[in-house]
Amino acid sequence: MVEKPDHLATRLSHAARDEALTQGGVNPVLQRASTVLVASADDLYDPDTWTYGRHGTATHRALKEALSELENAPCCALVSSGLLACTLPFMAFAEPGDHVLVSDNVYGPTRRFCDRFLRRWGCEVEYIDPTIGGDIETRIRPNTRLVFLESPGSLTFEIADVPAIAAVCRRAGVISVIDNTWSAGVFLKPIELGIDVSVQSTSKYVSGSADTLGGALFTRSDRLASKLKDAASDLGLSVSPDDAYLILRGLRTLPLRLERHGASGLKVAHWLQGRAEVARILHPALETDPFHKLWKRDFTGAAGLFGCCLSPDLAGRTSQFLDQLKLFGLGFSWGGFESLVIHCDPQLKRAASASVGLEGPLLRFSIGLEEPDDLIADLRQAFDSL
Ligand SMILES: Cc1ncc(COP(=O)(O)O)c(C=O)c1O
Repeated sequence: MVEKPDHLATRLSHAARDEALTQGGVNPVLQRASTVLVASADDLYDPDTWTYGRHGTATHRALKEALSELENAPCCALVSSGLLACTLPFMAFAEPGDHVLVSDNVYGPTRRFCDRFLRRWGCEVEYIDPTIGGDIETRIRPNTRLVFLESPGSLTFEIADVPAIAAVCRRAGVISVIDNTWSAGVFLKPIELGIDVSVQSTSKYVSGSADTLGGALFTRSDRLASKLKDAASDLGLSVSPDDAYLILRGLRTLPLRLERHGASGLKVAHWLQGRAEVARILHPALETDPFHKLWKRDFTGAAGLFGCCLSPDLAGRTSQFLDQLKLFGLGFSWGGFESLVIHCDPQLKRAASASVGLEGPLLRFSIGLEEPDDLIADLRQAFDSL
């Protein structure tokens, strides 16, 4: 057998299967620990010896090894939520007086962290148009420390010109970070495109069962990895081994599930496109989408999360439509086996541009693993009831 197979599904199936981690099974041992006993008194203060459960156990090591395959990054750090994966780079790299550039389409709690915590920390936060591309160069100042992107935006689905932005950051010595949760690291390889740190909420597609919370950070830079590790250690962050176990269990089947999420998502999106009640679909894999060209250039597939802008005359009836749905749950998360929908307007915020510029109310669908024809039938009856 070849040493390292090319296909991600094969690598994820075989990653972290070392006897030391599995003790003969195919899964790692579920090792719970706070106390760790060391062999001799000298080991107590040896920085290379494992001395405490907060530093992770065999279960965490197995998850990190397997996750590293996903983003082709040798350095992987685990945190207890996706939000913490987004905020940790700011805490690790930015200092009082620094300026940071943040894409205007970031996930709401990431934005709230920037507006509250980071400003109190003494950093200047500037929001940038998600479509800024290489023009980001004009926003870089001598004290710009970090650029944070989310692509596609998880509500409005703009695709950033990642290689162009990463190249500007490299030249200027600015650290680039991207929230890569939508692609789950399967369809977009930000680090190969020049990004310094890729982060993900593993609560979504990676775990895939809507029953655990987690986050992961990836980099190829030992220097940045060491700063992230120090920040996590200074803040006392830790991840439960039970969560690490569940996330690894999901990771093994990620490519297969994501393929189905993507195909079903496109089927539902195409059907919605043909409805009179729909003004526009926000889905970069649709040829009609303004970001399709960029998506095609940088991504190798699509997830099952997309937006649907209803026609303006339905503005007062969005809740009535959502309440009619039987198979779609009303819930904020995404990436699980179950289909979900939310209306987004109450949480759409923009600073760099006047508004998001949509014709009518915005819905966001997360297409799960149900039969897409059943989902379409559910949408049809909800539209017909209006
Ligand atoms: C794009 C994006 N990033 C990060 C997060 C945060 O993930 P978690 O819920 O694991 O904290 C979310 C959660 O919805 C998200 O949508």
